[in-house]
Amino acid sequence: MIVYRTKSDLSGHLESLRNSGKTIGLVPTMGALHRGHTSLVEQATKENDVVVVTVFVNPTQFNDASDLENYPRTLDADLQMLQELKADLIFVPAVNEMYPENEKRSFNLGNLDKVMEGKQRKGHFNGVAQIVTKFFEVVLPTCAYFGQKDFQQLVVIRRLVELMNLDIAIVACPIIREPDGLAMSSRNVRLSSRERKLAPFIYTTLNLAREKRISLSPEEVKLWVTARFETQSEMDLEYFEIVEDKDLRPVMDWEEKVNKVGCLAVNLGRVRLIDNMNFD
Ligand code: PAJ
Repeated sequence: MIVYRTKSDLSGHLESLRNSGKTIGLVPTMGALHRGHTSLVEQATKENDVVVVTVFVNPTQFNDASDLENYPRTLDADLQMLQELKADLIFVPAVNEMYPENEKRSFNLGNLDKVMEGKQRKGHFNGVAQIVTKFFEVVLPTCAYFGQKDFQQLVVIRRLVELMNLDIAIVACPIIREPDGLAMSSRNVRLSSRERKLAPFIYTTLNLAREKRISLSPEEVKLWVTARFETQSEMDLEYFEIVEDKDLRPVMDWEEKVNKVGCLAVNLGRVRLIDNMNFD
């Protein structure tokens, strides 16, 4: 395993690998790695000759300074984990390596950054697009791996590849959950033990809502989910939407020939949790 800190060192190494016909898998992360992240690295390792993992807490995707400050940073443990996974190349740039100048690049994401996460987190997906584009430009990967956990991000990345006409296969990886159903997240460590016990309610609700689609319309399922969260004084449902997976338009009828995904965000104490489930 080699750890690179600069774009030029990493791209120099990758160029010789690319010239000898090797496929390159890219796994972008913000560190504080858990089994959700490692599942991406494992899949990338199976499917590529060389795997690049980036560990970088990207400031331009945070619209809240205290969230950026409080984001967990555990580089030593991350590198240990990546070593055990036999990841090949790790890229850990400093902020001024990725953003030598004030970044102004703006992407036209249409509806994608106006709904759900985009409503609450203004500029978040533009920041994600900025950093992911930079990683694509440095690494020129054959395939790039993203978790279904951040479903809206995945849809944004697919759009980005389309917009920029990039020859990169975007691979969606399944959500990794704790045994009680809570989706793994770097933010889970900030839950109190009481909140941690309450958190699986989110996954249970998604499962029950999915079953309700047999007897209820999409709009009725939405109301049912809202009412169910109202019984939980400690949980604040920010949104629940059933959307299709291209433009994130709300699904009005189960008969629509689109892939349907139920997505939600919940505030539990100081922690904002997101989750989603396939509603086909
Ligand atoms: P981060 O939150 O560190 O997540 C890195 C990748 O791991 C993302 O593709 C995310 O969807 C995936 N992931 C996280 N938890 C997961 C889980 N429980 N199951 C499956 N996959 C999971 O997402 C980001 O970082 C950043 O926005 C980034 C793309 C790196 C750009 O800065």
